[in-house]
Amino acid sequence: MAQTTSPVLSAARVATTVAGFDRSPAYAGLAEALIEAIGDGRLGHGARLPSERDLTTALGVSRTTVTRAYAMLREQGYAQARHGSGTYTRLPHGRSHAPDRVLLPSDAEGVIDLTCAAASAPPGLLAAFTEAAADLPAYLGGHGYFPAGLPPLQEAIAATYEARGLPTRPDQIIVTPGALSAAAIVARALTGRGSRVLVESPVYPNATESIRSAGARLVPLPVDAEGWDLEAIGSTLRQVRAAAAYLVPDFQNPTGHVMTADQRAAYAAHLRAAGTVAIVDEAHQALALDGQEMPPPFAAFAPGTVTLGSASKSFWGGLRLGWIRAPRELVDDVVAARLVLDLGAPVLEQLVLARLLARGPVLPEHLARLRAQRGVLLDGLAEQLPDWTFHRPGGGLAVWCRLPRARATALAREAERRDVALTAGPVFAVAGGLDRFVRIPWARPVDDLRAALPRLAEAWAAAGADGDRPVPRGRDRVLVA
Ligand SMILES: Cc1ncc(COP(=O)(O)O)c(C=O)c1O
Repeated sequence: MAQTTSPVLSAARVATTVAGFDRSPAYAGLAEALIEAIGDGRLGHGARLPSERDLTTALGVSRTTVTRAYAMLREQGYAQARHGSGTYTRLPHGRSHAPDRVLLPSDAEGVIDLTCAAASAPPGLLAAFTEAAADLPAYLGGHGYFPAGLPPLQEAIAATYEARGLPTRPDQIIVTPGALSAAAIVARALTGRGSRVLVESPVYPNATESIRSAGARLVPLPVDAEGWDLEAIGSTLRQVRAAAAYLVPDFQNPTGHVMTADQRAAYAAHLRAAGTVAIVDEAHQALALDGQEMPPPFAAFAPGTVTLGSASKSFWGGLRLGWIRAPRELVDDVVAARLVLDLGAPVLEQLVLARLLARGPVLPEHLARLRAQRGVLLDGLAEQLPDWTFHRPGGGLAVWCRLPRARATALAREAERRDVALTAGPVFAVAGGLDRFVRIPWARPVDDLRAALPRLAEAWAAAGADGDRPVPRGRDRVLVA
């Protein structure tokens, strides 16, 4: 087990984190801002808060304000006084807030989870819930089921496509409990038993598994260090009469590649010639971290495309919201396929997302945090694991590292012994292999990433020493985000 020491939060860092807190009254606003930052991980758990005197000076408030705010934190379970050593951050009910065990290979306590490419909630999410609760009364008189989606959210989502130059009517949007659910619905609607579906490899495995479990036969197409091979895609589409092709053209999970506009146009031409429908997963599309302009949506090149979207990566996975943008002629089939799975997503969360989207497709604070985390991870990897190679992603949530030897599964095992959970390449491989790769997300706070890096280096020293081994068959686990 790795040794843990309590991090110390400086007064300056805490003051910057809570800057602009509500001052009516100041102690309550300060406590609320601290609780949000402790809750979403900006101020780490188990960390020592600055002394009341230091924080008073850093914030330029009265000492009573800080004393009362700290008292509120303690009352609500977000801080704990340790006799003679100060006040430490915590979460109420501690352990029950740890990641769900279904997503982790071992006991979650104390593990740094680098399996999940999904970040903590951005600042402002709590306020969006409070505001959305005020919108709720208007819906209470109805039955609360919205199988196509809550109208204001359908409108807000359609507007995001309009802003990207893709005319979209709100009735083309079907709101789902996440993009994975959207993939399952679309697979049901578009693929029959035994029909073939082209999928990228490596790729986000839960989506391909859900397509497979709808009865489709998967035909893998490699995405390598250079990205997509359009010639291979064209000739496969000519040979295989595929009903659909599932692709992730924006910050592809796990490789991080972005398909260029020219490649989209060429891909669309191949699909048209083959009569194959594209299922385009845009879960990471809004996460451009370098201020770059993204290529137009794939559906702008291939109008018959069914597009999947997610609130999980651009806002928060806990919203459990995603959507389908379908061409009008497919909307009825998609709604029919969804009705046998569920009857709609929760109303409050849809109101929250409608409010968030009114501010833009992603919050700038969220991007800033991810950018900082990417910097820490990529610099740390270059320094501490110099024989790993990677292409630097311009966005998304993870880096796909090539190891000098095919030992990723062994690396994940060694990392787990050092309380770091990792996903090895084979989990993303549609037809086995890829043990030379590991996906490392930058979704965790910088303190976690800094703590994980030396443990990764140690794990690699232990796992990578004895050269290549046969690639393990199958996957340890499919679940990953
Ligand atoms: C490409 C891709 N699609 C879908 C999902 C699942 O998203 P959601 O949380 O909206 O179900 C993920 C999550 O990692 C993903 O990477």
